[in-house]
Amino acid sequence: MQHNKPTVQDYSTYTPEDFYVWQLLYERQLPFVQASASELYLAALDKIGFNAAEIPHFEETTKRLQHHTGWQLTVVPELVPQKEFFEMLTRKTFPATCWLRALEELDYIEEPDMFHDVFGHVPLLVNSAYAGFMQNFGKLAMKWIDTPEAIPVLARVYWFTIEFGLLHENGKNKIFGAGIISSIGETQHVFKDESQKVPFNIRQMLTTEYRIDTLQPTYFVIDSFEQLCNAIPDIDKQLEQIFSTQLIH
Ligand SMILES: [Fe+2]
Repeated sequence: MQHNKPTVQDYSTYTPEDFYVWQLLYERQLPFVQASASELYLAALDKIGFNAAEIPHFEETTKRLQHHTGWQLTVVPELVPQKEFFEMLTRKTFPATCWLRALEELDYIEEPDMFHDVFGHVPLLVNSAYAGFMQNFGKLAMKWIDTPEAIPVLARVYWFTIEFGLLHENGKNKIFGAGIISSIGETQHVFKDESQKVPFNIRQMLTTEYRIDTLQPTYFVIDSFEQLCNAIPDIDKQLEQIFSTQLIH
């Protein structure tokens, strides 16, 4: 389906269908999220102030992010090229779409829309450890950007944490990855026995291919966002072991 993909958020252009879609998605995900998301995500959702009745305002959301961690949102029409994306992370800037899927695409959409980008990704940017990981991940990616073979390997870390990560909390696996939080299919699938849950392990993460065309067969479980932050030098070291001969100085 073709979407109108704005490069600025003009709130007056949202249609009744847009509000209805946001409300339906929000009200449908919320029970799953309340039952299975990390308490850090739930606290963050509260701080960022989203609700079912209102499509988030980017300006207001940026104000709240600025207050907590100094991050900001910027509107992009669609997925941005990797280099641009990583560079934005280094500047504490999260690129997000501001358009919503159509009613007939409620369960599945081919590319990320605002519900994924904003409901899924943005709340945890008020958490300083999570936000610190995002920025340092961007810096690490920019360090490796001229070694093209390294980027898809490094992208696996982003995939298995920021998109599809689980967090071990009070003896239970809880979700925090945006790809799970924003997806009805993933929230219903993630805790079934048919998917594998693997403790956080950089080497394994860097060498595990991921699927973009199906529900996830493997999820990695972290202990804390601090663990992720602290792993950045190790990720760098392991990339050096794998790609050192190709490093461009
Ligand atoms: Fe995403």
